[in-house]
Amino acid sequence: MSKAFYVTTAIDYVNGQPHLGHAYEKIIADVIARSRRSLGQEVFFLTGLDEHGQKVQQAAQAEQKSPQDYCDGLAADWQAFARTLQLTNDDFVRTTQPRHKEFVQAMLSRLQAAGHFYKASYTGFYSTKEETFLTEKDRRPDGTFDASYGDVVELKEDNYYFKLKAHQAWLIEYLEQNPGFVQPDYRRNEVLGFLRNNDLEDLCISRPASRLNWGIPLPFDPDFVTYVWFDALVNYISIPAAHGDPAVTALLENPAQAAAPAIQYDLWPAALHVIGKDILKFHAVYWPIMLRAMGLPLPRQILVHGWWQKDGAKISKSTGNIVDPIAVINEWGLDAFRFYVLRELNIGPDGNWTDAGFRSRYQAELANGLGNLVNRSLSMLKRYRNGVVGAPSKELEADAQNAIAETRTLLESNQLQAALLAIGTLITRANQYVDQTAPFRLAKDPAQAERLDEVLYNLTESCRVLAVLLWPFLPGTACKIYAQLGLDGAPDQFSQAAWGQLKAGHVIGEPAPLFPRKDI
Ligand code: MSP
Repeated sequence: MSKAFYVTTAIDYVNGQPHLGHAYEKIIADVIARSRRSLGQEVFFLTGLDEHGQKVQQAAQAEQKSPQDYCDGLAADWQAFARTLQLTNDDFVRTTQPRHKEFVQAMLSRLQAAGHFYKASYTGFYSTKEETFLTEKDRRPDGTFDASYGDVVELKEDNYYFKLKAHQAWLIEYLEQNPGFVQPDYRRNEVLGFLRNNDLEDLCISRPASRLNWGIPLPFDPDFVTYVWFDALVNYISIPAAHGDPAVTALLENPAQAAAPAIQYDLWPAALHVIGKDILKFHAVYWPIMLRAMGLPLPRQILVHGWWQKDGAKISKSTGNIVDPIAVINEWGLDAFRFYVLRELNIGPDGNWTDAGFRSRYQAELANGLGNLVNRSLSMLKRYRNGVVGAPSKELEADAQNAIAETRTLLESNQLQAALLAIGTLITRANQYVDQTAPFRLAKDPAQAERLDEVLYNLTESCRVLAVLLWPFLPGTACKIYAQLGLDGAPDQFSQAAWGQLKAGHVIGEPAPLFPRKDI
């Protein structure tokens, strides 16, 4: 059993349909998972749904459904969405699954036994409408609260708290000494700034079952359910436990709690958690402390992406300012969508979706760039040489080698946008080569037959190399290129990119446009 490259996404609240932001994060993680597999690593890719908590309970109530029925209905949509995006996830976690709930309870019992929790009562101003405690900051200078909070009552409530305070010093030191732990750097600095300038408060890890019952009961006090974040973060280890990961099953008193898995994986610590900037504190502060308290090593890296807006404004269901990924995919194809989100926005900063920007990248980079290169290269080979590949030639080999080496380095450091740019240089170079060598002119001159063979070889082989490099990003397109080249299987191993694998005498398949031009 070898250690797998274990990559996760945040698990989404199941209180509506997936939107652009959810799709973006899943595509980042999928491209990373595919890249690592292509580079020969064993990978385990986990995504899923966060089904407990107040937001879900309220959404279910609004539809007059039981929370479980409500979640079951939406979970089917979200799982179908994962398939639409062609995610290569190895498992799909739902936090209402027994395998997860049992693990959370085992972990809570363990932390309780080790003295990490205490019970205390809190008195504060409670908004019944928002179902949350308000703070002094929510109060107006005259001491009253905004009408939007509805009735605000002073409430005394018992809860369980996790002793976070004690962990502040080592976490600061850890972040200082492990610059790769949170990426990009400015997100790491944000966490460090927060930790250096604030004293951590102990974390409330329960909610009274009388006010919120849609959660995992505390095993040591059934009057309470687990606070949703203390439940959700644990998915990153409960699923490894379900797959028999020895690092995590060792925590269980009775390892039989994890049903005997068909294949046993060695997963924890995760190589990578991919998350959005809004949930950084939960992942870079609470989660490492929870892990430390459980005696588990920390994940290798937390990779933090930015947020998408549309037309310069917040994406919001209520204002109707949304991008429906399914509609875009139906109109333009999955690979055009996968391409745009990674090409347009580097992992880190915020991005802005505009339909015009999407169309112009489609036209310039997919239809006129990649699509045109593959279509004219293969069509010329078909027309002038009956689709038969000539003797290998090395004129574009160095260009291909550069793109291959750069792409490999960039994929190994999860720089997906830069990798697409590196691949783009080979597309541009090969398109230029067509214009410079003018095969359509060579074809008219019988004395240039050998030169034409050479040119066509360089073009066809470049298309093949591009299919391999693009496979993690555009899996469907890469497979189509391979099929049009008359090659079997998928271009899913990076080593296949090495120049010169098309052999003389090989007959290609039928060329067909990859990205139909659209009149716009
Ligand atoms: N359930 C929690 C996460 C628990 S992880 C143990 C949650 N769910 S969420 O559905 O609100 O968000 C899921 C992910 O989608 C988060 O990483 C979040 O940053 C991301 N996005 C939600 N809207 C987004 C954009 N508009 N743009 C990019 N990503 C965004 O938080």
